[in-house]
Amino acid sequence: MPFRQEKSGFARVANFYIDTIAPFIEIAISHYNYGETMQINGQEYRSVWFEHARVKMIDQNKLPFAFEIREYSSYLEVAAAIRDMTVRGAPAIGAAGAYGLAMAAQSAPEEKFRAYLRSARDELISARPTAVDLSIGVNSVYESTLKFIPDLVHARQVALLAANEFANRSAAECLELGNRGAELIKEGYRILTHCNAGALATVDHGTALAVIRQAHKQGKNIFVYVDETRPRLQGARLTAFELEQEGIPHAIIADSAAGFYFWKNEIDLVITGTDRICLNGDIANKIGTYEKAVMAKVHDVPFYVAAPLSTFDFGCAKGEDIPIEIRDEAEIKYIGESCIANPGSIALNPSFDITPASYITKIITPKGIFEPSEAAQKVQQ
Ligand code: MRU
Repeated sequence: MPFRQEKSGFARVANFYIDTIAPFIEIAISHYNYGETMQINGQEYRSVWFEHARVKMIDQNKLPFAFEIREYSSYLEVAAAIRDMTVRGAPAIGAAGAYGLAMAAQSAPEEKFRAYLRSARDELISARPTAVDLSIGVNSVYESTLKFIPDLVHARQVALLAANEFANRSAAECLELGNRGAELIKEGYRILTHCNAGALATVDHGTALAVIRQAHKQGKNIFVYVDETRPRLQGARLTAFELEQEGIPHAIIADSAAGFYFWKNEIDLVITGTDRICLNGDIANKIGTYEKAVMAKVHDVPFYVAAPLSTFDFGCAKGEDIPIEIRDEAEIKYIGESCIANPGSIALNPSFDITPASYITKIITPKGIFEPSEAAQKVQQ
């Protein structure tokens, strides 16, 4: 620490840098193994990132029919992108929210910095209610930034560093859980997955798909049944797209077809991601997950859930306490502009359901593979 004894203004700035900013950068650079980044058409991408003062993301509403990158320069635009699911998937919206709050810190007026940041935080967190990663990502930036008030120059810098830190940690954790979970997948396994729990749904690598991808990289001959995942078709559009990009053998099935393949004894293992894990091991995930878990139990097929640490809600005791997002009925009644249902009927559209811990074989985390009822406690150790 060459400047420690100095009393000049320059030395004070240098000391400040050494004590506060540099450790963040050091952690980000040295701690993480990012592995091989998601490849789309031969190019490396994350689902969401920060570049040239903008939050950038792959438009997941357009995939697989078009590959488009969206750019946002305000937190309000980022909140809208989370709401309309341009970016979706629990860890990915956590990172988008973190970057959104970092943008808010850049534009917050000096005299109302704290109030502006608080209202940006609330707006971002309310964009989607079920995935706890969103509030964890946003709050991690909020809390880091507040510590530097009234030094707003550093507060703004730290906001960006903290957002990058959240995104980098999320990517590294997904890589790690993929490496750990791959041991559960044996040669020749036929695997069922629901929704999209791939690199698109996270910052990189995925949760359930990180495990599948790693098993495939190990040379295991596997096959993936991809639930289409009505109403927004994250399975048919996004999981199928990612598996095709990786050359992993798969087929899309109607959501109602899984039972047929269980009955034929053609599913060896089920793996999904999750949007929130409770203290007792209950989880929330995309609507339809619960019925796959019940089906797996009836057929004595293991049902695994994979998640980074930001998906644990240590303040949530049980599944009943998780807020379930109810989305617009138009998602059920329309595909694009076409109405596919009786126009005069209402449609109900809960976006997530709860799978009780008793239906989950194990939870795969970057810290290990745990019994659901012990997972929250184990990852905190
Ligand atoms: O509504 P979505 O598409 O954001 O829902 C996503 C899921 O349910 C995923 O399975 C979940 O986020 C875990 S995978 C990272």
